[in-house]
Amino acid sequence: MKLTKLLPLAALTAAFVIPDEQVMNQVAIETHETSSTISHKVPSKEQVHNCLEDVFSKGLRASKNTFDQALDQASEAGDKIAGKFGDAVANTKSWLESASTTSHGHHGHHGKPNQTVYQLIAESKYTTKLTKLINEYPDLVKALNGSAANYTVFAPTDHAFDKIPEHAPKPSKEDLKKVLEYHLSAEFYPAGRVLVTHTIPTLLEGEDIGFEPQRLSTNIGLRGLTVNFYSRIIAIDIFGTNGVIHGVDSILIPPPTTVDIITLLPGEFSTLELGLTKTGLLPILNDTSNHIGGTVFAPSNFAFLKLGPRINAFLFSSYGQKYLKALLAYHVVANQTLYSDAFYKAEGVDQSGIPKGLFHVDLPTLLEDKSLSIDIGRYGRLISIKINGFADVTIEDGIAKDGVVQVVSSVLIPPKSVGGVLQQWQGEELSEEELRERLEPFVGQDEL
Ligand SMILES: *[C@@H]1O[C@H](CO)[C@@H](O)[C@H](O)[C@H]1NC(C)=O
Ligand SMILES: *[C@@H]1O[C@H](CO)[C@@H](O)[C@H](O)[C@H]1NC(C)=O
Ligand SMILES: *[C@@H]1O[C@H](CO)[C@@H](O)[C@H](O)[C@H]1NC(C)=O
Ligand SMILES: *[C@@H]1O[C@H](CO)[C@@H](O)[C@H](O)[C@H]1NC(C)=O
Ligand SMILES: *[C@@H]1O[C@H](CO)[C@@H](O)[C@H](O)[C@H]1NC(C)=O
Repeated sequence: MKLTKLLPLAALTAAFVIPDEQVMNQVAIETHETSSTISHKVPSKEQVHNCLEDVFSKGLRASKNTFDQALDQASEAGDKIAGKFGDAVANTKSWLESASTTSHGHHGHHGKPNQTVYQLIAESKYTTKLTKLINEYPDLVKALNGSAANYTVFAPTDHAFDKIPEHAPKPSKEDLKKVLEYHLSAEFYPAGRVLVTHTIPTLLEGEDIGFEPQRLSTNIGLRGLTVNFYSRIIAIDIFGTNGVIHGVDSILIPPPTTVDIITLLPGEFSTLELGLTKTGLLPILNDTSNHIGGTVFAPSNFAFLKLGPRINAFLFSSYGQKYLKALLAYHVVANQTLYSDAFYKAEGVDQSGIPKGLFHVDLPTLLEDKSLSIDIGRYGRLISIKINGFADVTIEDGIAKDGVVQVVSSVLIPPKSVGGVLQQWQGEELSEEELRERLEPFVGQDEL
């Protein structure tokens, strides 16, 4: 793998701007080993890469199951979470709590708070670096010390900052502010709400998603509760008068682009990347000036595998290329960013709420006149996203700078018209002829 590819990859885990390979390697060590076992050996590129894949896609492998199994796991997970949180709080050596006890003699975070979230952070001995950074931006200090909103702060501990290599070049003040803003929400998300939420809006304006708030995703996995798949929540519910703080163990880096996510995770998306490259769609997706946000339903390598060797051989032959292009275009939605619990539409209408219970939307794809029929079922933490009544999103809300990646474990095949009635593909075995027939109407469309 080329170094140029690895750079943003490291940023996806936990770095600011990564200048060279060695620095990047250090970051990789820090992100996948616990603080007590940090070794200073420099891992191979391979290890760096595995580490990232591990962090991002653990959920992928674990989630190739049915809705029922998901339900079982979710309720099981629910039981375990309470215990996990207990540990997490203990593990942080009472973190902010000790700061407020030392400065005020008695209370921890149980009494009624009388300090702002800014004051709590400023007085904690575990967040001195964050404090120093916030202090560079008087408007942020004023906000976090004021009552204009009840804020949620994902506060990186000093240890999280230690993961930044010493000699990494300092990002511009403007970029650093964006990083800070990505840790702050103007909405109130105590832990109980975080648990039943999949994405959280931050103060960071998403330039490539129509200046809507850039969102964070929350994930429950083997590492407990994480934000954007890599930053572990290690302390919860430190309440201030104007909001709540959760401690995180890695700095939250504003997200990479959709194309970065696809190209940097070959273990999941190498087939998709190959297809997008062969058909010339990759540069179109990568051009953020031609879309305002968007949703890519990204089939995993596993999804392509399920189509069988004959269909893959056809699609990836030079003869099949135009069919492949039509097929992939059917997975891309421009200008509408559909998270599992929020929806940004480019055309001015702010439809950011997705109601609890059932929600249906048809999303137009790059394939002319062909929409994807999306059904979202939301019951607390448990969310099911079904496409065309059949395919499941297996990993939700891969947050991208220019949209969102929803991973599907089946390739999505356009419906066919039988006597004027659209027949959706329901996963039945598909012959090459049948696939060609379904894609024929779209082959060679002008804009593709
Ligand atoms: C916060 O409240 C405690 C009593 O609960 C008091 O001793 C302390 O002085 C208060 N601090 C501030 C900054 O008002
Ligand atoms: C924060 O607000 C308090 C009043 O709530 C004020 O006494 C304090 O000086 C403010 N701190 C900063 C740094 O502005
Ligand atoms: C913050 O929360 C408190 C308590 O729920 C509420 O009274 C107050 O109006 C909220 N402030 C803002 C700005 O929403
Ligand atoms: C996407 O575009 C950026 C510049 O906008 C470029 O640096 C990057 O290499 C491109 N990625 C791919 C996979 O073409
Ligand atoms: C997305 O929006 C941009 C800007 O409004 C527009 O130029 C483009 O044609 C739209 N793309 C699609 C596929 O609708």
